[in-house]
Amino acid sequence: MLSAAVLSSCGIQQKTEQTPAPPKQERVTVGFSQIGSESDWRMASTASIQQAFADSPYTLLFNDGQQKQENQIKAIREFIDQDVDYIILDPCIETGWDSALMEAKEAGIPVIVIDRAVEVSDESLYAAWIGSDFYLEGQRAMKWLEAYLKKEGYEEPVNLVGIQGTIGATAQIGRSRALEEAANAHEDWTLLEEQPGDYTEAKGKEVMEEYLRKYQDKIQVVYCENDNEAYGAIDAIQESGRKVGMDVKNGDILVLSFDATHDGLRMALEKKIAVNTECSPLYGKRLVKMIDEMEQGELPEHTTYIEEGQFSTYSGIRAVWVVDNSYLVTKLTNEILEEREY
Ligand code: AHR
Repeated sequence: MLSAAVLSSCGIQQKTEQTPAPPKQERVTVGFSQIGSESDWRMASTASIQQAFADSPYTLLFNDGQQKQENQIKAIREFIDQDVDYIILDPCIETGWDSALMEAKEAGIPVIVIDRAVEVSDESLYAAWIGSDFYLEGQRAMKWLEAYLKKEGYEEPVNLVGIQGTIGATAQIGRSRALEEAANAHEDWTLLEEQPGDYTEAKGKEVMEEYLRKYQDKIQVVYCENDNEAYGAIDAIQESGRKVGMDVKNGDILVLSFDATHDGLRMALEKKIAVNTECSPLYGKRLVKMIDEMEQGELPEHTTYIEEGQFSTYSGIRAVWVVDNSYLVTKLTNEILEEREY
């Protein structure tokens, strides 16, 4: 048997003690506080993020806030206690986040806000926001309506009703503002009423039933702040004996909607929704890319708006102008519907 000294003199190192294993590379952990599951859009957003993280080197911790800000704040605090590396927050409403975001900042955890925005005293409380320009979405819908009524030669007064989203959510604030401003800007348009529909089909239906009882055949346009509310409103209109459609001169109610999910586009193809303005829920891959870059030491853009489309079967309007920019309106076809995955 060769002694240790001989082995060593032959240039062979003998290990007498166990060498410690190299430190295990810990997986980067990301906590995601989602609002809930109120709409098809929301489910698509959750699926997009869960799928992208499942395909990534990161571990995602998911929390469903069930539409309650207090639950989302609790989730942020739990993520801080778990010492996650990043927090993703889709805030149900804009205000009330200062303390929780300050705690995350003090713990050195970057917060990425998505979809809806937060209104905070100090913008450095979050690392980045990526989402939709909800006000612009509303303006595009209103410009389309204005152009449509003009093209169709509709010269009667126009009565509108609004079914809003969750009050205080950026999507609601922006879309409702666009509706209110457009109604004020047109002498012959009257916004009869706005009520929250919480982005759900059931509430959308309930609100529309009430409007139909109150205003009967006075309504020409219903502005639904998402597709699920539109499905509910369409049911209510059809059950009341009135017709949804594009023939406003002959008494159809025009339904305007947002999101452009698969079912929302299908209803637009059936002309039950006159125009559907897109709101993209596909955040997953963008978030993984952002975290890849942050892991490489890059600073993310603080504010990023997602580009979105607008769809209608009506081919008379190719684009709408909002302030100095023109936005294409896509003629909706079966092929577009088939390609829509959510
Ligand atoms: O914040 C985005 C909005 O929230 C979508 O329009 C709606 O469908 C969702 O629930």
